Amino acid sequence: MNIKYDLHTHLIPMIDDGAQSVEESLMLIEELSNQGIENIVFTPHFYTHKESAEDFVLRRNEAYKEIRNLIPDYLNVKLGAEVYVTDYLFAEERDLRPLCIEGTNYMITEFSYDSDFSGGSMRRLLKLIGLGYIPIIPHVERYPALIKKKSKLDELIDMGVLIQSNFISFAEKGKSRKLLKLLNSGYIHILSTDVHNLSRNAPDSISKAMEIISKKCSFDIINSLNQNARDVFEGR
Ligand SMILES: [Fe+2]
Repeated sequence: MNIKYDLHTHLIPMIDDGAQSVEESLMLIEELSNQGIENIVFTPHFYTHKESAEDFVLRRNEAYKEIRNLIPDYLNVKLGAEVYVTDYLFAEERDLRPLCIEGTNYMITEFSYDSDFSGGSMRRLLKLIGLGYIPIIPHVERYPALIKKKSKLDELIDMGVLIQSNFISFAEKGKSRKLLKLLNSGYIHILSTDVHNLSRNAPDSISKAMEIISKKCSFDIINSLNQNARDVFEGR
């Protein structure tokens, strides 16, 4: 079964450390399509301590215009952001929906990788949830506090947080076994590429990962990955 959704990508040209030209952006989009992806969310980095949400959204929307009319019609695309969550995000009483996956309340969040999800990061997550947003924690494998402690993952999932992992990590020795266990136990809801370019989380990480996942996980688990991603993409 093909995964049809990629909810976490860095494909808008020249806005972050992802695609650095229109050509690179379009090539990566085509590669994702070749991997079976039909629905893509563009989630450039937004560093909340460096820029206001308003400035970021203007900058993102402007950069997106460079590729907007060049994306093949058969792909469904949406705008979003990977939001590095600091207290600055809440400094002004601002509507944060433009930072969510377009037309939804789902927000891809990012925290310091040494975060233990008990102090400030937990307070900020609860604040987002209180405001009506549904945080997605991407590349869970980068947070030792979450990977080592299932109880912490349980706590986050009970709060309504969704957990995402990068395809490439399933093809990496040292990460794969742990992530397969988490996926099979229902701790990972979404897989995405987090593609930046051909050498960092490249589109073919999907087929590399799925070759392993299809051997180690049931049809139901793989099916649920598509269903969860569809629910997020469609804002259900
Ligand atoms: Fe990312």
